Amino acid sequence: MEAIIRPDKESACLLTAKLIAKALRAKPDLVLGLATGSTMERVYEILAMMHRDEGLDFSGCRTFNLDEYVGLSGKDETSYRFYMNRHLFNRINIKPGNTHLPDGTAADLEAECARYEEKIAKSGGIDLQLLGIGQDGHIGFNEPLSALRSRTRVKPLTPETVRQNARYFKTPEDMPRRAITMGVGTILDSKRCVMLATGESKAAVIARALEGPITAMVSASALQLHPRCTIILDEKASAGLEMTEYYRWIFDNEPEWREFR
Ligand code: PGA
Repeated sequence: MEAIIRPDKESACLLTAKLIAKALRAKPDLVLGLATGSTMERVYEILAMMHRDEGLDFSGCRTFNLDEYVGLSGKDETSYRFYMNRHLFNRINIKPGNTHLPDGTAADLEAECARYEEKIAKSGGIDLQLLGIGQDGHIGFNEPLSALRSRTRVKPLTPETVRQNARYFKTPEDMPRRAITMGVGTILDSKRCVMLATGESKAAVIARALEGPITAMVSASALQLHPRCTIILDEKASAGLEMTEYYRWIFDNEPEWREFR
């Protein structure tokens, strides 16, 4: 695991977009795991600009999103399918058939979860999984006590998550209380993980996830088990960390990061 601290949100988002663009240029049929949330909006805006201005080519790319609300169809403006179309897919040259999210309206949700896992496996597995983090430590919608080996399944959402996301809905009662989410185990199977967190509201949970013990109470702490995981932070989100001098030294000195400095 490595933590990269950038001075502000814009440079953290830019670095995240650059890592995705580099992976896509190296492997045009990249299998990309995607995340939603307010943090990612700027990342997708930058990727759309890279497509428009530099010809970044998504025509061979396949994507799998982490999660979707149970009960919302893709036409619903608060669904994650709608979010992805609006913020990314409609603005790049990806083939719509290559974009995948769990179907929150499936009659048999358990079968839908198994189907989603199967689709990921058939694609050859996720090459790069983009992740945000919730204030309760979730990655995807893996709320506290999610098994560290869990697979795609239906998960009830915590009151904290409902409080965090109810702002997107007309009334808090409109927000679904359950979601289909890739499991922690599904996420850990991806070949590379890139997590992005910005702002002071994430500082405490980032400190627990990165420098605390691995615990099902903070799903993101399971990333400590991943052999290739990069955590990109702005100054504010890194404020609770103890080893920042070491993390800064790595970004400033390691050859891998030269092209991004
Ligand atoms: P946010 O959500 O980017 O809106 O903070 C992140 C998450 O809950 O995973």
